[in-house]
Amino acid sequence: MGNLEGRIALVTGASRGIGEAVARAMAAEGATVAVTDLAAPSELADEIGGLARAQDVTSEEDWAQTIDWLREEAGGLDILVNNAGLFLMKPITETSLAEWQRLHAVNVEGVFLGTRAAIPLLAERAPKWKGGASIINLSSIAGLVGSANAACYNASKGAVRLFTKGCALELAPQRIRVNSIHPGVIDTAMGQEVVEGVSHASGVGANEARSQVASLHPLGTMGETSDIANAAVYLASDKAAFMTGSEMVVDGGFTAG
Ligand SMILES: NC(=O)c1ccc[n+]([C@@H]2O[C@H](COP(=O)([O-])OP(=O)(O)OC[C@H]3O[C@@H](n4cnc5c(N)ncnc54)[C@H](O)[C@@H]3O)[C@@H](O)[C@H]2O)c1
Repeated sequence: MGNLEGRIALVTGASRGIGEAVARAMAAEGATVAVTDLAAPSELADEIGGLARAQDVTSEEDWAQTIDWLREEAGGLDILVNNAGLFLMKPITETSLAEWQRLHAVNVEGVFLGTRAAIPLLAERAPKWKGGASIINLSSIAGLVGSANAACYNASKGAVRLFTKGCALELAPQRIRVNSIHPGVIDTAMGQEVVEGVSHASGVGANEARSQVASLHPLGTMGETSDIANAAVYLASDKAAFMTGSEMVVDGGFTAG
């Protein structure tokens, strides 16, 4: 029997990368997984026996509709993974207000809107499980330490880190656990954006930039999406029943020094 048997999960930004891997891993552990993204990830949903819907996480109305859809089509919600996110690597002086606002709309407001919308549904089924309900927010190593040319991204992921802790305290009486995950650079489209940013900033080729990024992690490589999916499955399960408000760092040692 899987560790998430009987659970209903929602993963945002699940068309590719970390979100896709989390959705697949949760389904493999027995959960019914609803996946959303700007375009509905229907093929993924078919493969994992889940549900798909188009959803922009910055839209309050989309969130209300997604919660109604979960109630009607899935029968509730036990696990919310606020995964959808954008990256921005630019010097501060070259960053427009519109870029800052778009980044925060997705990375911060999306997490706030999703959490607020999902609380009543999560609270309904939380008493069913030893570990209650679980909200998992994708922060980053960039929410723990600064990096040059990524200050705006740092701000957005730092906000996710502390929003998570405030939520954990506020929602504990309802048995809703709230934790953040802090990945190092993971080999996804966004990870590739990091490599391209380093290549641009230091004037080296793509291969050299990739090995520079890998070498920032003491374990010597970028991470794989499964590294983050495993952490998310754990935080969603009863095995993490006593964990809330924590920051799970999965970064190959990047922030250990
Ligand atoms: N890849 C990394 O190195 C890394 C490191 C640390 C943290 N993270 C975080 O993990 C999460 C997933 O990262 P990834 O590498 O899989 O990124 P990715 O770019 O590969 O995928 C992100 C997904 O989010 C979706 N998305 C973007 N805006 C959206 C919106 N408004 N509404 C709904 N969906 C939207 C995209 O369509 C895409 O499918 C992000 O929050 C990211 O900040 C990634």
